[in-house]
Amino acid sequence: MSRARFITLEGLDGAGKTTHLAFIRDWLAAANVDTVFTREPGGTPLGEKLRELLLDVDTEATLDTETLLMFASRQELLSSIIRPALAMGRWVVSDRFTDATFAYQGGGRGVPAKRIAQLEEWVQQGLQPDLTILLDVPLQVSQQRLSQTRLPDRFEREREDFHQRVRDSYLARAAAYPQRFFVVDASGDLATIQQQLAGRLAELKAQA
Ligand code: TMP
Repeated sequence: MSRARFITLEGLDGAGKTTHLAFIRDWLAAANVDTVFTREPGGTPLGEKLRELLLDVDTEATLDTETLLMFASRQELLSSIIRPALAMGRWVVSDRFTDATFAYQGGGRGVPAKRIAQLEEWVQQGLQPDLTILLDVPLQVSQQRLSQTRLPDRFEREREDFHQRVRDSYLARAAAYPQRFFVVDASGDLATIQQQLAGRLAELKAQA
């Protein structure tokens, strides 16, 4: 049995996650990699209920409550989906994970990174993604893409400086954990991005 791999996908809202996730899904299926796909917040029945609350523009929550709800969803996802899948040797791809909490609640909202790290330690017990793909785009690109879609959710409607801090936090984390992060310039052309993604996935598969 080849080694299980845990991949997370991160980036600003409007970075093109949906498109690139579809490519990753097709690539792994073509490579015969047994993979579970999930997302955060969400991915479990309780997590999806929490997601609805967290993204609802009418929800009022203190910063700490918002952070705890993100980790409540994560705890549920880890214990019922991610850990069992990895234990069976399956790969897991999660659309967002803890780096999003460091970027959005930490960088965006100002929750101390130390406090997030304490929750990370409690909930993850050392488990970290093998690979985190950061789809990086300048703020203008993400904002323009967002404006062309549906009504903005509770995070998407935040001001530009919030999103700038989110992007900066993601890039700072990528610089701090270069072995785990793979930063892709997601403002470039699709073929180049897909080539980079395929190359990195092939490397990971060869190591598994
Ligand atoms: P998305 O899955 O459609 O990108 O939307 C999820 C939103 O939730 C996105 O704006 C980022 C935000 N989020 C956080 O603020 N903290 C987190 O820990 C996670 C997982 C997501």
